[in-house]
Amino acid sequence: MIQDQTRRKEAYIVMDAGGRIEEANAEAARLRRARDDLEQRVRERTAALEASNQQKDRLVEELRRANEAKDEFLGLLSHELRTSMTLIYGGVQAVRRMGDRIGTQEAASLMENVEQETDAMYRMIEDLLNLARLELGEQLTTEPVLVQHVIRRFARSFGESRPKQEIVVDVPDDLEPALAEATYVEQVLRNLMSNVEKYAPPESPVELRAARNGGTEILISVLDRGPGIPEEERDAVFERFYRSRQTPKRVRGMGMGLTVCKRLVEAQRGRIWLAPRDQGGLEVSFTLPVALNGLGN
Ligand SMILES: Nc1ncnc2c1ncn2[C@@H]1O[C@H](COP(=O)(O)OP(=O)(O)O)[C@@H](O)[C@H]1O
Ligand SMILES: [Mg+2]
Repeated sequence: MIQDQTRRKEAYIVMDAGGRIEEANAEAARLRRARDDLEQRVRERTAALEASNQQKDRLVEELRRANEAKDEFLGLLSHELRTSMTLIYGGVQAVRRMGDRIGTQEAASLMENVEQETDAMYRMIEDLLNLARLELGEQLTTEPVLVQHVIRRFARSFGESRPKQEIVVDVPDDLEPALAEATYVEQVLRNLMSNVEKYAPPESPVELRAARNGGTEILISVLDRGPGIPEEERDAVFERFYRSRQTPKRVRGMGMGLTVCKRLVEAQRGRIWLAPRDQGGLEVSFTLPVALNGLGN
């Protein structure tokens, strides 16, 4: 009897132990799953953190570059303004101090320099202001504009102060009006012509053309016989402060003119691009939309 009881007790203990082992195994499996789950979450969070860290690094890098570009810009701007101011100040001072001892011709030539520098400074500030306005999202007020008139008027006034510059104007009289802002069209032309003046050989001819381009656009081009712009830089020169590697440092400029042109043209719903010319030189073209209601709106 006692033996039987002992055996039953033992069997019970064995069964009980089996049950506990199963339970313990199940618990261990649960724990493993929980651990795997946790590890997976840690991996995911780590990856997310790394990604956001990389994003932060990129942002810091972008800000650093923007800050550098701003410093470079301020450096260029101060240099340009100081150069102009020095020439203006020097010219005025020379005329005033020398009084009668200076010849009329010499005085006139000094004053001409002063006038040119004042004009350049004025244009530069105008470019800067327009750039700032357009970057703040200012809308233009466009109206029908006879581009042929704007081009002829501009060529006349530009040519008057540069009697040696040959300007060929090729614009039809019966061109449809463009939907544009006349002063902005003129500012684009002025920037493009100032480049021709700086980069093409002196006294090489420049051509101004306008024509209807398909049904909806007026195409305006400025063509020079200068060194042109290498293909790999033809997009970059439209970026702010970019100057071609082939352009000598001594030629003054801030790399802002073409950026301003692009912004002005695009604000008038046009496009602008560069192309090389067959016999050498650069062709800068831009479009303006045709004013579909003619001059009547
Ligand atoms: N007509 C041109 N012929 C040759 N290179 C040009 C011409 N126009 C512009 N470029 C090049 O494009 C660059 C950018 O022009 P722009 O934005 O007007 O700036 P900037 O004249 O102040 O340098 C110039 O520095 C020059 O390298
Ligand atoms: Mg320029």
